[in-house]
Amino acid sequence: MHIDSLLAQGGNGKDAGTGAVSFPIYQSATFRHPALGESTGFDYSRSGNPTRQVLEELIAKLEGGRRGLAFSSGLAAITAVISLFGPGDHLILCEDLYGGTYRLLEQVFRPWGLTADYVNTSDPEQVNAAVTSRTKAIFIETPTNPTMKITDLREIRRICDDGGLLLIVDNTFISPYLQRPIECGADIVIHSGTKYLGGHNDVVAGLAVAAREDLGDKLAFYQNASGAVLGPFDSWLLVRGMKTLGLRLDRAQENASAIARWLASHPAVDQVYYIGLDNHPGREVHFQQASGPGGMISFTLHDAGKVPEVLSRIQLISFAESLGGVESLLTFPARQTHGDIPEDIRRRCGVTDCLLRLSVGIENVHDLIDDLAQALA
Ligand SMILES: Cc1ncc(COP(=O)(O)O)c(C=O)c1O
Repeated sequence: MHIDSLLAQGGNGKDAGTGAVSFPIYQSATFRHPALGESTGFDYSRSGNPTRQVLEELIAKLEGGRRGLAFSSGLAAITAVISLFGPGDHLILCEDLYGGTYRLLEQVFRPWGLTADYVNTSDPEQVNAAVTSRTKAIFIETPTNPTMKITDLREIRRICDDGGLLLIVDNTFISPYLQRPIECGADIVIHSGTKYLGGHNDVVAGLAVAAREDLGDKLAFYQNASGAVLGPFDSWLLVRGMKTLGLRLDRAQENASAIARWLASHPAVDQVYYIGLDNHPGREVHFQQASGPGGMISFTLHDAGKVPEVLSRIQLISFAESLGGVESLLTFPARQTHGDIPEDIRRRCGVTDCLLRLSVGIENVHDLIDDLAQALA
């Protein structure tokens, strides 16, 4: 079945008793047991909830994995995945990583004994050179957040095969509508469901999908043992949001392509990072593993001093920290999403004081361009 149909039909037909087309919100903490030693399949909502289960089955199907798990935030999902490893283990990650993932690794997991190196994963040689006898996994974002670097997932899979490593992909930036990393060899896919999957800037959620049963079992154990599960209402919001993922992304992409071209010819703008532009590095590799450029644009201004002015002058577009929703958002990565990354790494990755990140929504593209024009004037 085409992904549009899977998305639109999410949850439909799953509540056999009532025939509800929109799967109900099972807002119950606990479930009655028919008798001692018997269960309806649900005992207690941390361990399993019908609404959450519909979401977990849906994301597993969309990503082509064996098991999906829903967490209370994207970082809770990342914590669960990193918890597969232990003290003494080493991970390799892309260097222009979401700042919260960097903070988690450096300030929570490093004191606990896990080490990590951050390299330019667009260059497989650099990845190969970073592998040690203790390396257990490679963690990729492609495209990266915010400078849209592309990593060849199949190349990294080969390195993982040589070293017996897991390949973990944070697919938040582009979603399964456009890219399914498990098809390129990923073992685990992660999402901040807060972004494109939820799509309406109204829910914080995280998802992890395991390509293999054994990894799914380990993550499910951790989910129940640590307890950062997604609640029934938030699970329902996600299933509801995902029904229109394709429509939203088609429109966001169309808008983003027009805005990126407009920005590229604006005199105040220095560089535009958008995969849809012909000169974007890694574009060819991206289109071998994804079916569209997505709705995210980053751009630099010639003058860093103009950044505060632009952020306070935008009106239709909100100056806010998130992405992937129907409403367009402008973010200042150096201070917001990537504020916890040391300045030398930030500068190396191009996350400078001149860089802005635009999550393009589904508004009318002329209104968005008019807003940017008056803010940049
Ligand atoms: C790529 C990426 N991964 C993970 C996260 C963390 O997700 P959450 O904010 O839902 O915890 C974010 C948040 O911005 C993100 O951009």
